[in-house]
Amino acid sequence: MQAVILSGGQGTRLRPLTSTMPKPAVPMVNRPMLWYMVDWLARHGVEDIVMSVGFLADGLRAALDETGHEGVNIRYVEEPEPLGTAGAVKYAEQHLDERFLVLNGDILTDFDISAEIAQHESTGARATLALVPVEDPTAYGLVLTDADQRVLSFLEKPSAEEVPPNPRINAGAYVLERDVMDLIPAGKAVSFEREVFPALIDNGIYGYDADGYWLDLGTPERYVEATRDLLANNLTSWLSPELEASGSAIAASAKTELGIIRDPVAIDENVTVDAGATLGAYCVVGPDVSIGSNAALAGSVLMRGCSVGEGVDIAQALIGPGVSIGARARIESDVVIGEGAVVEPGARIAAGSRIDAKAAVTA
Ligand code: GDD
Ligand code: MG
Repeated sequence: MQAVILSGGQGTRLRPLTSTMPKPAVPMVNRPMLWYMVDWLARHGVEDIVMSVGFLADGLRAALDETGHEGVNIRYVEEPEPLGTAGAVKYAEQHLDERFLVLNGDILTDFDISAEIAQHESTGARATLALVPVEDPTAYGLVLTDADQRVLSFLEKPSAEEVPPNPRINAGAYVLERDVMDLIPAGKAVSFEREVFPALIDNGIYGYDADGYWLDLGTPERYVEATRDLLANNLTSWLSPELEASGSAIAASAKTELGIIRDPVAIDENVTVDAGATLGAYCVVGPDVSIGSNAALAGSVLMRGCSVGEGVDIAQALIGPGVSIGARARIESDVVIGEGAVVEPGARIAAGSRIDAKAAVTA
């Protein structure tokens, strides 16, 4: 099976992390965010991925190449300008099979997409849309169906008054027949949600009730929520076997024996944790990070190559690659620090602060 992943958005809400890397390449529990989608699709037998990209595409390609995925071939199609969700797929038309999947690149999920494909085949649909329940559908695409799952209406970003009881929304995972491409004019911006799907009503568009974990990763809060859910094993992921076996996922080369580890945490290769340092719960430590003695970290993410000095205290922070934090610095909750910033010994960073990439924070 083939999949097109839509990954053309700019991810402005994750700045300053996204000022140096594209949002889909930002590591989430030590893998590029978008890699989780590749991994999920691979588990369902997808071997051919067309990645529809725009902004900072090279960074995404480099990040996915580095992590890799056996048995999956990824091609990149770069749009000259954002063409909208349907326009982007139309632009990649020459690469498409007779039947293919289209995925919003910013969702984290483990639902059974093989079952969605099976339903698509049994109904003879032209388009099948995975649907999930959410409490507040106003930020999503609201979908109403009849008892046979035929879509009756599609309402993108409905107002609160338009929301019925027990709403289901578009989960951003479609099975499409190639002839749907004939409905999309070439060379201009076109939206599946606002133009193509409404035009398919009464003409072969079905919903599929997706059962499982599902989250749209659009905001920094959702990034934190997804990180916690991955560590809590609330969805099936590459971490699940180790979390089930030992409560945390700690790489073999990490030296953590002298520290105090509170499950669940994820610790990558070549990490050192010095004597008396406390880590967790819900910490993620990227490769090549060093954590000094008696440092205390909870609910925080440290990306590749960070160094944390002796006695540093970090409440709940998101810390980009290569950040250096001097001894006894204090970082309060809900802080985001961009790549390569330097925090001097004894400095204090107040709750909610955003520190730019390469900035220096003095004591
Ligand atoms: N290549 C490309 N070109 N990709 C795009 C473009 C474009 O012009 N516009 C958006 N995308 C990608 C985004 O990068 C993202 O991965 C995905 O398409 C969805 O776009 P968002 O901007 O995140 O849309 P949304 O979250 O507001 O709404 C969409 O997702 C909801 C579920 O999370 C809609 O599909 C809703 O109907 C849906 O409920
Ligand atoms: Mg989204």
